[in-house]
Amino acid sequence: MQFSSLFLSAVLATAVVAKGGNKTSTKAVTDKSLCKEMAALTKIVSLAANTTKLADKTDNNATKIAEIQAKASDASTQLSTMSTNTTLVSTCATIDAAQKTESECKDMKSLQSLVSLAANTTKLSAKTDNNATKMAAITAKAAKAQTKLDAMTSNTTLTDACATIQTAKDAKTGTKAAAASASSAAASASSTATSAGTMLDAKTGLISTIVLVAAGMMML
Ligand SMILES: *[C@@H]1O[C@H](CO)[C@@H](O)[C@H](O)[C@H]1NC(C)=O
Ligand SMILES: *[C@@H]1O[C@H](CO)[C@@H](O)[C@H](O)[C@H]1NC(C)=O
Ligand SMILES: *[C@@H]1O[C@H](CO)[C@@H](O)[C@H](O)[C@H]1NC(C)=O
Ligand SMILES: *[C@@H]1O[C@H](CO)[C@@H](O)[C@H](O)[C@H]1NC(C)=O
Ligand SMILES: *[C@@H]1O[C@H](CO)[C@@H](O)[C@H](O)[C@H]1NC(C)=O
Ligand SMILES: *[C@@H]1O[C@H](CO)[C@@H](O)[C@H](O)[C@H]1NC(C)=O
Ligand SMILES: *[C@@H]1O[C@H](CO)[C@@H](O)[C@H](O)[C@H]1NC(C)=O
Repeated sequence: MQFSSLFLSAVLATAVVAKGGNKTSTKAVTDKSLCKEMAALTKIVSLAANTTKLADKTDNNATKIAEIQAKASDASTQLSTMSTNTTLVSTCATIDAAQKTESECKDMKSLQSLVSLAANTTKLSAKTDNNATKMAAITAKAAKAQTKLDAMTSNTTLTDACATIQTAKDAKTGTKAAAASASSAAASASSTATSAGTMLDAKTGLISTIVLVAAGMMML
């Protein structure tokens, strides 16, 4: 399967990068990069520990399995060394939480796009070439999306965090007016929200409705 081989090369590539460890590198070593490295190492170690997954990802190729197991053995050693640094481990937990929040905010946007699409008959028929089957499928998915969205929206910790992240993005994009009006909301946001907002390198860039809707659908 194409996915398997892509996944495999990604795992092996990260293993190579991870093994580079303290070698001279042009990239600055930051907490973020260390945490990323730890996550990559953890992924290899847990893959090697799961024989079912390992067989699946390698199409049960013994050569590939042995290769991953060898990488995992090195990774495990490096991981234990890194894990002794409790400051780093706790920083990574904070970064992980912030990333999880950002991902949930993106999910909410995707779900909202899907709901909005289904609610707009003009847009819906344009997008589906007026195909009733496709329209019904989207409408059905949108109903599920709405349920999921309602549950997420009821979490004010999450919605506050998303507002903070959005403010940071707006500020970066240069929409100063939006940032200014939202800054008071940001100031009152929770500490989780604040850490999410500051930890994340708020990415700019417009995600098209198509991508959002597709992402929204994949989550259902
Ligand atoms: C690189 O890491 C190895 C073990 O991980 C250590 O023995 C070595 O001293 C380190 N080298 C430098 C230059 O930090
Ligand atoms: C091993 O991986 C499979 C999926 O490939 C997963 O369903 C299973 O829970 C994993 N087992 C363990 C012990 O993590
Ligand atoms: C198993 O993987 C190795 C290394 O990627 C490859 O050279 C070999 O052809 C594979 N064997 C089979 C039976 O696919
Ligand atoms: C532990 O990790 C932190 C954060 O990356 C770093 O500043 C500190 O120097 C590390 N401590 C040791 C003993 O390596
Ligand atoms: C519905 O979508 C059309 C086309 O994308 C747009 O022009 C219109 O403003 C939307 N209507 C509503 C009520 O959002
Ligand atoms: C409408 O969409 C469905 C599902 O994608 C497809 O099977 C069907 O052929 C389409 N109908 C028309 C008239 O294009
Ligand atoms: C609300 O969202 C926050 C941030 O994602 C999360 O830590 C918390 O567990 C959520 N609370 C509930 C009740 O789901």
